[in-house]
Amino acid sequence: MSAEGLKEAAARLAVTMINNGMRVGLGTGSTASHAVRALGERVATGLTVVGVPTSEATAELARSLGVPLAELDDVPGLDLTIDGADEVDLGSFAVIKGFGGALLREKLVALATTRQIIIADESKVAPSGLTKWVPVEVVPFGARHTGAALERLGARPTLRRRDGAPFVTDGGNLIFDCDFGPLADPAATAAAIKAISGVVEHGLFIGIVETVLVAGASGVRTYRRGG
Ligand code: A5P
Repeated sequence: MSAEGLKEAAARLAVTMINNGMRVGLGTGSTASHAVRALGERVATGLTVVGVPTSEATAELARSLGVPLAELDDVPGLDLTIDGADEVDLGSFAVIKGFGGALLREKLVALATTRQIIIADESKVAPSGLTKWVPVEVVPFGARHTGAALERLGARPTLRRRDGAPFVTDGGNLIFDCDFGPLADPAATAAAIKAISGVVEHGLFIGIVETVLVAGASGVRTYRRGG
């Protein structure tokens, strides 16, 4: 099966977990967009839900499919969120997100969610701990100094660019992609990044994810935290 086929398989399984009347967080990225499309199909055949999108791009897709939307502040909380990931450690359920640039809204939605479901193809699974770079969203003011502070933590930060200009998030911020090498203690790294003035949020999701659905050649496997 193609990579897109695997992503879609995980997404379709996740969408079966949505019940009538639920408030659902809608993730961002190519894998999450399969879930939004599958949800659109269910809404078209009568499912009643309210979706809270994690990016403008996801909001636009969901709207085009007729999925009713609300702002995060319009709901008391979310029953379930389906989102993708850039790297997943199935041992600790620590996840890196934000390669698509939506990490701030993704984290705020995740934190308001009872069940955070990550969907991924097996290429996202880290065999022995997280090793990829960590996206860090910073305010534009003094960003060079914030980058220097990230460097002092041991990162090699690269300002993310798109089409020759700095990438700007939906919140109007910038992103440093921070290569820390393999993360021996992701929680400690997360806390140290968060303590830097100028940092808005980082893409380390620790203690947040409840379920990971991983699609591979032999089907979709379900991993539950503590299960
Ligand atoms: C968006 O900011 C990201 O967190 C995405 O969820 C993540 O990058 C996964 O994207 P893909 O499904 O496109 O790989």
